[in-house]
Amino acid sequence: MPELQKEYLDLVVEIKKHDYAYYVMGEPTITDREYDVLYKRLQEIEKANPQFVIPDSPTQKVGGEPLDQFNQIQHKVPMLSLDNTYFPEEITQFIARLERLLPDQEFDFTVEPKVDGVAVAVRYEDGQFSSGMTRGDGSVGDDISENIKTIRSLPIQLPGIPGRILEVRGEVFMPRSGFMKMNEKRRSAGDPPFANPRNATAGSLKQLDSKLVSERPLDIIFYGFGQIDLSHPLDTNLGFMDLLKSLSLPTPQKVWLCKDSDEILDALNELGELRKQLPYETDGAVIKLNSIELREQVGNTAKAPRWAMAYKFESEQAITRLRDITIQVGRTGVLTPVAELEPVFVAGSTVSRATLHNEDDMKRKGVLIGDLIIVEKAGEVIPAVVQALVQERSGDEKEYVFPENCPECATRIIKEIHVSSGNTVYRCPNPSCEAQIRGQLLQWCSRGGMDIEGGGDVLIRQLVSHGLAKNPADLYKLTASQVAGLDRMAEKSANNFIQGVEESKKRDLWRLIFSLGIPHVGKSTAKRLAKDLISIDRIAQATIEELIEIEDVGEIVAQSISSWFQDAQNKSLIEELANLGLTTEIDQSHQESQNAQIFKGKTFVLTGTLPSLKRSEAAAIIEYHGGKVSSSVSKKTDYVLAGADAGSKLEKAQKLNVTIISEEELHKLTNS
Ligand code: IVH
Repeated sequence: MPELQKEYLDLVVEIKKHDYAYYVMGEPTITDREYDVLYKRLQEIEKANPQFVIPDSPTQKVGGEPLDQFNQIQHKVPMLSLDNTYFPEEITQFIARLERLLPDQEFDFTVEPKVDGVAVAVRYEDGQFSSGMTRGDGSVGDDISENIKTIRSLPIQLPGIPGRILEVRGEVFMPRSGFMKMNEKRRSAGDPPFANPRNATAGSLKQLDSKLVSERPLDIIFYGFGQIDLSHPLDTNLGFMDLLKSLSLPTPQKVWLCKDSDEILDALNELGELRKQLPYETDGAVIKLNSIELREQVGNTAKAPRWAMAYKFESEQAITRLRDITIQVGRTGVLTPVAELEPVFVAGSTVSRATLHNEDDMKRKGVLIGDLIIVEKAGEVIPAVVQALVQERSGDEKEYVFPENCPECATRIIKEIHVSSGNTVYRCPNPSCEAQIRGQLLQWCSRGGMDIEGGGDVLIRQLVSHGLAKNPADLYKLTASQVAGLDRMAEKSANNFIQGVEESKKRDLWRLIFSLGIPHVGKSTAKRLAKDLISIDRIAQATIEELIEIEDVGEIVAQSISSWFQDAQNKSLIEELANLGLTTEIDQSHQESQNAQIFKGKTFVLTGTLPSLKRSEAAAIIEYHGGKVSSSVSKKTDYVLAGADAGSKLEKAQKLNVTIISEEELHKLTNS
């Protein structure tokens, strides 16, 4: 072989090695510059010696001549779909069905990510790429060989010959990072961005010009096979994954081997965490019988195999129409744009309103009234608008114009820059604005505040509009007959409310502090303030330096507390509340302070995601009640406070028989 041809082949092998490290393993072995040098040399040799060019050369991944249309290919083995479930109980039923079909047999399962991309089949004949196909209707698909070949992590020639035929099946996807960069470019070029990586992938694979496809950051993962004629039989799914890896074919980052439903549920939990770090979107997990022989025994239904099922994670996003944008005026006067939506079911409930946060956010997202939008519900937080589907516009959509006057009291709105986020905020500066008063009173009466029964939206609205309550102190001056005179208020509910107001006078100090609505003072800060400073007077008199001494209180919070207590109106409110008989200090001899120390000498460890509290908030509650928080579980741990997706700490606690409590139990124990 001529020297140059040898250099050429060595270069191909070397570049492919680097491609594998970069595209499949995600661990580059050389710098981009070094790579470019090798690549340029390869291109030079090929240009001068076209007879050398082999199909597996990295340069062949840039795409060929555009096609008029795709050819159709009949699948040798149908591409079936999967039975889906959202319910863990159905996994037990799936296992029970297999036990019935395979009596007296031992079997195990694999759990792997369900990649949310576009299903494809790729055929290798004698170790050489021969074609790539879409699923189509399951029996006939499009020949997308030219497009598939542009995917950098896909080998055109396998490093070994596993047998005569290997048809692998998997999912083409666009990594999140590539998707974002591509959309960024499209936006600046004036092209409509894609709604999500899946659409972008499907759109790319449909291109007839593979040169364009080669510019799209596509990637691929394999998890199954169609027609095969291999030199070694396949025993198990895990063995198949190993074969794929040995052939440099990309496989899922992690596959779990599980022997029963408990282990499957653990794997699903782990995947639920891991999926956030995967480069592709996953909409669930696929649970498969590991043994290939047993798979053949149980076979398929007309639509799906009996040996596999998909467990889908609840979708937290949905598409709906934005009917209108309204403005909500909060208790501090800040105006929040609210998206009024066509009701849509998302993650277990119907959503008809979502926040657009603020004007900056609204502008950034560029939503128009009438747009189809993506709405997202993440955990306990208020649903939010993610983006508009710009390419779906009809032209009838309308821009929303932010009002110049408060929609509640018509006062001219002022523009401010929010201290910590730097966002523009619009605020109604009128302290007598009814919306602000309502917001303050609602916070005052709320469960997490002074916990006054009956103090909901309907009653508060009327109290404010009739001028019966302008601030929280007014609530303590109301008579039962005044309340009973309002619409929809029976005598009994009026009495209950008045009694609730009376009882609230004895609430813990931290509730009073929180309910005042001092900017930046949430529940956990209120608890720290109460614990360290013991009385409202001491908090009011504390200097900024003294406040900063308190854990979790920084400069901004300290400033905010200090200036709130300097305001004349707030000063008189505090005085009035004290005169009305509300608890404004912690009485050390009082029952409540005994209660407050229920965790004295107890050590807690926190693990997992709690439904509503942040870790720092949970720690504040524990410490307020005399407990200590430590980071690792040992025999000395008294309680483990566990939330969703708790990992090894929870396991250790179970082993050591440590009492495990939930956030709800913590609230019950501490009356918080
Ligand atoms: S196994 C006979 N494994 O999800 C079908 N499918 O909703 C065997 N998918 O059609 C498919 N990740 O396109 C399998 N790890 C995975 C998967 C996966 C994504 C897709 C596939 C399938 C669809 C069913």
